[in-house]
Amino acid sequence: MINKKNKVLGVLGNPLKQSMSPLVHNYWINKYNLNSHYCKFQLEKIDNIKIAIKALNLKGLNVTIPFKKKIIKHLDKIDKTVKTLQAVNTINNNKGTLEGYNTDVAGFLLGLKKIKKLNLKEPAIVLGAGGAAESVVYSLHLIGVKNIYIMNRTNNRAQKLARKYTEAKAVKWIEYDLVNNAGLIVNTTSLGMIGYPKLPISLKRVSKITKVYDIVYNPLETKLIKDAKKLKLEYVTGLSMFLGQAQESFRIWFNIKPRVSDYLISKLKKDIKIL
Ligand code: ATR
Repeated sequence: MINKKNKVLGVLGNPLKQSMSPLVHNYWINKYNLNSHYCKFQLEKIDNIKIAIKALNLKGLNVTIPFKKKIIKHLDKIDKTVKTLQAVNTINNNKGTLEGYNTDVAGFLLGLKKIKKLNLKEPAIVLGAGGAAESVVYSLHLIGVKNIYIMNRTNNRAQKLARKYTEAKAVKWIEYDLVNNAGLIVNTTSLGMIGYPKLPISLKRVSKITKVYDIVYNPLETKLIKDAKKLKLEYVTGLSMFLGQAQESFRIWFNIKPRVSDYLISKLKKDIKIL
């Protein structure tokens, strides 16, 4: 039973059928005995979202497609990351003040920590120039990567993103001279995801020190990750970023850094397979 003593949270987006956030957050809520529940709020419009959050006394929300930008004007406060990226993925209801955060940056960086020796002087390549690419470029800027090459099918989007960061440069879509000498390659496009074509990139001539990070987590192992594995390159899958952003949202709401257990990972892997 939901009463005044417990907290309701959820994810706001449309569509939400495939969202794995309820599984993850309800797992942690139970594990830490928090007397809360995390639901799906699939809405057509968010014009009255502020009234709705307050009327339902929601503790917090994750925000996903197509509301990440549209939500901003309904919030009372936003942090520096949101100001920079102009996108919110987490709302915290702090005693009636609605605060907006973007935990995709922390999530990406938590995943990146899995790489043992990342050389910041080696160039990084970001494939894609959408919202996800922007949080990745900003993350790389924050940790001090010296050169970031943005490759996107639509070059003017790459140029627009590159203009925001002095370390970033827009280059041709799959420019092999750069791919083959990269320290890190990050895929932020939808390519490789279930229902999309594969990413048209060959890793055959990349250097042995190249690290590969695919933020796509459905399937768990994209062709890019399979190729990296075959070539014995260090890699990070999209599940790490997904779990990282969820951990950071949970910390904002409950002031607890939740643990990613093997059991949770196996539950998620099962869920992804049947998506
Ligand atoms: P998100 O906010 O998740 O990043 P997005 O803004 O729709 O979503 O961006 C999707 C990215 O995938 C873009 O970089 C897009 O390239 P374009 O800017 O050229 O559209 C890329 N993408 C999607 N389908 C693609 C395809 N078939 N070939 C190459 N790039 C593709």
